[in-house]
Amino acid sequence: MAEQHVPIDTYTTPAMRVNVKILRFNPEQDKKAHWETYPVDAQPSDRVLDLLNYIKWYVDPTLTFRRSCGHGICGSDAMLIAGRNRLACKTLLRDVVKDGGTLTVEPIRGLKVEKDLLVDMEPFFDSYRAIMPYFINESPPPAAERLQSPEQAERMAHSSNCILCASCTTSCPIFWVNGSYLGPAAIVQAHRFIFDSRDQATNQRLNIMNQNTGVWRCRTAYNCTEACPRDIPITTLIEEVKRAVMYQQS
Ligand code: SF4
Ligand code: F3S
Ligand code: FES
Repeated sequence: MAEQHVPIDTYTTPAMRVNVKILRFNPEQDKKAHWETYPVDAQPSDRVLDLLNYIKWYVDPTLTFRRSCGHGICGSDAMLIAGRNRLACKTLLRDVVKDGGTLTVEPIRGLKVEKDLLVDMEPFFDSYRAIMPYFINESPPPAAERLQSPEQAERMAHSSNCILCASCTTSCPIFWVNGSYLGPAAIVQAHRFIFDSRDQATNQRLNIMNQNTGVWRCRTAYNCTEACPRDIPITTLIEEVKRAVMYQQS
C-alpha cells in the first residue's frame, strides 16, 4: 500500500503522526486476515472515525466499516480499538495513541467477519429479538400516556440508554466460547422491559432469562461494563435480572 502523508484537516498544522494498523480481510481474495498500516497526520482531537474515513476516502477506498450518525447514537461503529471495544466516532486519538505511535483497529470479536471491520450482526440481533424487545400490555390504553412515578422510571433509566452497539456482548469471554449465550446486550434489553412497571410480560422474559442461554451463563467478568460507551452498569443490571429470576422461582 502506497504511503501518503496528507493531513486529515488541511486547515490546521498536523500535531501528530499516527500509524493506523488495521486488520484487513477480503473474503474474495484472502484466506485469513492480515494487518495493513497507514501513516496518517492528524490532530489529538481527531476521532478514530475521522482517520478511518480519511483512509477510505483518500488512501484505500476498499476499506470497509460501518458508521452512520458519527455522534455516538446509532451504535454502528463498534470496533476493537487499541485492544478494547469502543465506538470509533467517540474515541479521540489523544486517548488511545501517542505521537508517532501505532493504533490498532480490529473488528469486534465473536461475530463472523464479512469484510475488514464489518461483522455479521445477525446473531447479535437474533439474541435481541429472543427477549421480545417490545412493550407488552393488553389492558385498554388510557386516554393519555401510561404513567410512571419518577422512581419507577428510574428503575429502567440505565437499560433504556442502550444503543445496541454490541461492544458488551463481543467483549464477553463467555460469548466468545459459546455463541448461544444471549449475551449482556440482550440481558440489558430484557432488563429494560422486566423493570418497566407498565409492561405485563415480566414472567415470560424472566423465563427466557432462566434458560441455559440466559443470565446464568454470566460469570461476572465485567468486560461488558468496561466496554459500554453509554456507561451502563451492565454487570449490576445482569445481577438485578438474576435476582428477579430467583425471586420468581422462589
Ligand atoms: Fe452497547 Fe452498552 Fe448497549 Fe452493550 S449495553 S449494546 S455496550 S450501549
Ligand atoms: Fe460476560 Fe459481562 Fe457477564 S463480560 S461474563 S456478561 S459480566
Ligand atoms: Fe453512530 Fe458511531 S457512527 S455511534
